[in-house]
Amino acid sequence: MAPSNSAAWLTSEKATPLKVETAPYQPPSSDELVIRTHALAINPVDWAMQIMGNDFFPQLKYPCILGHDVAGEVVEVGSSVISFKPGDRVLALATNGGFQEYVVGSANLTSAIPNSLVYDEACVLPLGLSTAAYGLYMEEFLNLQHPTYPPQAKTGKTLVIWGASTSVGCNAVQLAVASGYEVFATAGTKNFDFVKELGASEVWDYKSPTATADIISALKGKTCAGALSVGHVSTPEGAVSAEDACLEIVHQSQGHKFVAMALRVPEKLPEGVMAKFILANEMDNEVRGAVYGNFLPKALKEGKYVCAPEPMVVGKGLESVQEALDVQKKGVSARKVVVTL
Ligand SMILES: NC(=O)c1ccc[n+]([C@@H]2O[C@H](COP(=O)([O-])OP(=O)(O)OC[C@H]3O[C@@H](n4cnc5c(N)ncnc54)[C@H](OP(=O)(O)O)[C@@H]3O)[C@@H](O)[C@H]2O)c1
Repeated sequence: MAPSNSAAWLTSEKATPLKVETAPYQPPSSDELVIRTHALAINPVDWAMQIMGNDFFPQLKYPCILGHDVAGEVVEVGSSVISFKPGDRVLALATNGGFQEYVVGSANLTSAIPNSLVYDEACVLPLGLSTAAYGLYMEEFLNLQHPTYPPQAKTGKTLVIWGASTSVGCNAVQLAVASGYEVFATAGTKNFDFVKELGASEVWDYKSPTATADIISALKGKTCAGALSVGHVSTPEGAVSAEDACLEIVHQSQGHKFVAMALRVPEKLPEGVMAKFILANEMDNEVRGAVYGNFLPKALKEGKYVCAPEPMVVGKGLESVQEALDVQKKGVSARKVVVTL
């Protein structure tokens, strides 16, 4: 008999707060699995979907269950899944809404986690990891060499990551280093050491009006592998937007003149520069396999991949999800807002 399930429902467009109620238990299709959620994390898109509704997310139908990031225990696997079994500890990108007790995920967007890693930490990764991986590895994007553990030999190329203390950025820095690239990054000044510990070789303040020129100057004599732009809707006063800064940096540097954009693509691009918007949910099977299958479980087991940003647990139970969304919306600095179940 299927277990009883409950979820934090978005009952109608822009409804607040989310309502905790029973939910159907969805069995897995052949290439999926079901996870009993032990911890879930919040992403900006989750509260954006709640407050913006169909104006920005026409695909939303109500009532629905939001949420992307979960970690927990596998309870059921689809007929063609051979890499996981009930009882396995995993992190996963939810495919049917992460804010519920029993979540369905694609097997190739799920990674095994070691016993030493607690669920609160593991759940911070999936959407940040997927977004970074999409921008870095998809053929039509930066098309970097895939990550391995132990890391790939150095390529001699430098990747620029603007917004490295974000959830997406923390993953991008670690993936790029494991792929053999040097990383030039930006972050707020208090997160410089943190971003360097993740693997960036140099870090600049994204709020500084000279950051773009400083990075262009540091790239002289180097081959740029392109840039990953991770900004937020508002740009600090006196600073350049993540998008404009990255476009200018690749325009003025030798190498791959491409920017993978996590937030938006400006209408006008400098001559000779290409940019595309990341659609993390549409990652192809090759990149899924390279990141979730081959790389991450091994790197986590060896303690060589940091579950960053650090979790900030705001509550226990689905009743805490609305508060968690509100906390994320107010803004965080190198923290992932987490709810345990
Ligand atoms: N396209 C996709 O598929 C996709 C998927 C996921 C996320 N995103 C987008 O990617 C962005 C980041 O999401 P996230 O979850 O990684 O964010 P997050 O973890 O909530 O970001 C918080 C961090 O943003 C940094 N920050 C704030 N303004 C910045 C700016 N102008 N430039 C660079 N860094 C800035 C802050 O740095 P300091 O504290 O160091 O100052 C803070 O640490 C959002 O806009 C989100 O909507 C897109």
